[in-house]
Amino acid sequence: CAELFESGILAGLHLVVTAGPTREAIDPVRYISNHSSGKMGYAIAAAARDAGARVTLISGPVTIQAPERVNLEKVESARDMLEAALEHISSCQIFVAAAAVADYRPLNVANQKIKKSGDSMDLTMIKNPDVVATVAQHEQRPFTVGFAAETQAVEDYARGKLENKNLDMIVANDVSRDDIGFNSDHNAATVLWSDGQQSFDSMSKDTMARQLIELIAHRYQQYTK
Ligand code: CTP
Ligand code: CA
Repeated sequence: CAELFESGILAGLHLVVTAGPTREAIDPVRYISNHSSGKMGYAIAAAARDAGARVTLISGPVTIQAPERVNLEKVESARDMLEAALEHISSCQIFVAAAAVADYRPLNVANQKIKKSGDSMDLTMIKNPDVVATVAQHEQRPFTVGFAAETQAVEDYARGKLENKNLDMIVANDVSRDDIGFNSDHNAATVLWSDGQQSFDSMSKDTMARQLIELIAHRYQQYTK
């Protein structure tokens, strides 16, 4: 086992991956969230571990089991996730953002359970910090890989995110296809970087994670040359 670690393509490196949804509190018993299963991020954590990396998995609330031999840090909100990510920024070489972070959170969190009253209710939301953009724009930035969930003009929007967030790579998913994505065991994607791209046809998330880790390791080697 020790030998495998030394010979892996990510041997000696610390990789941080975010996974799952975030939960944004409304009151002590309610929250806003999304259907992210965490499967893709967890599969990436396992694949990176198998490639010899030390792995930190920063995860929102999910029902799946964490892979063995990774450092699991459980978080709830987008702001918790950012805080956990920043703690590792200077000690990791590669950061992969697979989490489905809530873009907005309720402006005010009620201290007590909100009582039902009237036929409608308004909830004012405020923008959350962008975890991966904050990491990628940091002066001690690691090699940073994002994901992009899109329903149209997938590659154009993803390339926009690659540039605007200052990422090194982005994995673009077409979430309008119901055979792949969010809750599925399968995924298809196009990976983009500044001067290239590679497509992955529909395959299991475990297989895709291993192929993504190979590509990320390869691009990381070019980046450090
Ligand atoms: N992301 C993040 N923090 C946020 C929002 C997104 O770290 N507050 C990361 C995701 O983990 C993913 C990438 O940014 O790696 C793109 O997420 P996505 O939701 O596709 O893009 P957004 O920038 O949020 O834009 P939009 O939802 O409007 O398409
Ligand atoms: Ca978003």
